[in-house]
Amino acid sequence: MDRDLELMLGREKNAFYVFDSAALKNRCAYLRAHLPAGVQLCYAVKANPFIPKELENEVERFEICSPGEADICRRLEIDSRKMVISGVYKTPEVIEALVADESFEGIFTAESTSQYELLCGLAEKYGRRLKVLLRLTNDSQFGMNAEDIELIVKERGTHPLTDLLGVQFFSGTQKTSLKKYRRELEMLDRFLLKLKNEYSFEAEELEYGTGFPVAYFKGEELDEEALLAGFSEFLEGLVFGGRIVLELGRSLAACCGKYYTHIVDIKTNKGVNYALIDGGMHQLVYFGQQMAMKQPLLSVVGKSGTVQDKLWTVCGSLCSMNDIVVKQLPLPEIEVGDVLCFENTGAYCMTEGISLLLSRDLPAVYIRKDGGLFCVRQSFETREINFPKYERML
Ligand SMILES: Cc1ncc(COP(=O)(O)O)c(C=O)c1O
Repeated sequence: MDRDLELMLGREKNAFYVFDSAALKNRCAYLRAHLPAGVQLCYAVKANPFIPKELENEVERFEICSPGEADICRRLEIDSRKMVISGVYKTPEVIEALVADESFEGIFTAESTSQYELLCGLAEKYGRRLKVLLRLTNDSQFGMNAEDIELIVKERGTHPLTDLLGVQFFSGTQKTSLKKYRRELEMLDRFLLKLKNEYSFEAEELEYGTGFPVAYFKGEELDEEALLAGFSEFLEGLVFGGRIVLELGRSLAACCGKYYTHIVDIKTNKGVNYALIDGGMHQLVYFGQQMAMKQPLLSVVGKSGTVQDKLWTVCGSLCSMNDIVVKQLPLPEIEVGDVLCFENTGAYCMTEGISLLLSRDLPAVYIRKDGGLFCVRQSFETREINFPKYERML
């Protein structure tokens, strides 16, 4: 175990996350090496709001989907030219403040005709040119129908301050099917060609959220090289010759994260061995985990091997029978005070939990970089949020 981690484990009384900057950078380099030259990367901040600064020089763009994410990126002084303000609901006041701010030079997506009208109205009100991507629906509540986009494109002359850059499309997450990628890319290619042929609109850009997958569990197989090679071949075969920006969250960020949680109690109830941890499902969520049936990649810090014929059920501290993190888990000889390290937890795991249940603290978050560990959030007392202060309003 390295010395920084040893010191941190001695210091932190609760569970915590560590995100590794070098792992992130290596991951970006890996993806670039396995994608066609010139393809740009856009990091979807929702995957992990703690790491945008580490990616500042690694990706061309940041996809921002809420006022909170926008605020985080601005406080981190991310260059606004790298920002895409996206999201199914755009708070009008927040959008207006961005348009009114002349130093803001980001792109906006339009996910509905009313979002498009809001943007056009603000462009006119402030006399500013706005760059807009039109989001095509993936048959969900996100984006617009192809016909809505066609109408906007057809009538684009009525909004001379709104520069239409092209189309954004999000596939979904944890996508492993090359067939599906081919179908989607062919559909997008046909659509972009239709906009060109029927409306003389040559899109500069296609921003595509591919939902590249991550392997989280033991025994899960993912031939990423083959997937990226097949995907790259489809990209190279497109008629569309403009800029391609891939919007990625999970696939970029997952590998950089580790979640450390202490074993705080051990017992055997009716023949079942339980290890209780100070973390739990309010702080650690794995995509695809159901009833704790799958085994995430994890280890006991400083220990190896497994005790034969002894399996463990690892439970969190939520006083909910659902708070089971892993079942049927072989472990080395463990004792109270040992620390479990859950791997690949750099995307969504830390934010998708039911964090306010039981008013437990939010975990501290550290970034490992430049040979040290940097605290980006101290353990946070949710009782500050949950405490019912009575304030007379009327
Ligand atoms: C529009 C958009 N782009 C990108 C992403 C990131 O997806 P993933 O983390 O699967 O790469 C999401 C996730 O919800 C999204 O909604």
